[in-house]
Amino acid sequence: MALSTGFDKIKTAVFISGKGSNLKSLIKFSKNKRSPISIDLIISSNSKALGLNYSKNFNIKKKILNFNNKRLVENKLLLELKKNNIEMICLAGFMKILSKRFIKNFKNKILNIHPSLLPKYKGLNTHQRVLNNNEKFSGCTVHFVSAKLDSGKIILQKKVKIKKNDTKKTLAKRILVQEHKLYPKAILKVFNF
Ligand code: GAR
Repeated sequence: MALSTGFDKIKTAVFISGKGSNLKSLIKFSKNKRSPISIDLIISSNSKALGLNYSKNFNIKKKILNFNNKRLVENKLLLELKKNNIEMICLAGFMKILSKRFIKNFKNKILNIHPSLLPKYKGLNTHQRVLNNNEKFSGCTVHFVSAKLDSGKIILQKKVKIKKNDTKKTLAKRILVQEHKLYPKAILKVFNF
């Protein structure tokens, strides 16, 4: 993907539903001179998401939307994104599925991070399923978002070795540390930096 407007940063929205630790790492990355993106909007599907605190801490506009009626909320969302001149979307712990129609509006401009080595272990409860299957490795993946869940083209992956006594909590924690490094790296790769 080429940078659209000289050296202006790409205006980006981050979609969250929870803690927002990936959001925080993306915000920090975006402040770097080398970052091709700026974070200009936080969208949350959950009014209680802890990650919403980063809106205040970093002075970034936020919008909380109720995803019960998908068509309605996606129309609102498209307006909001347009209003803020958003060119790119990073899903970061966003637990809702976007429609084909919505994704078409941002073709190859929506990225997601998932805590497994895709195409293995799409969906929820990833770490427990990995442990149940006695896998030797797990990891995380940044990929383009397509209409099918966790299935778009893979940009980057990082392997994480599973330890003997790992629980889903300890594994999630170790993978999250890698996620925070992988997402910025994947963005640099997308923009050929
Ligand atoms: C992360 O592990 C992310 O990969 C995962 O949710 C967590 C969010 O943490 N996303 C998915 O499972 C999406 N399918 P965070 O809110 O601290 O960034």
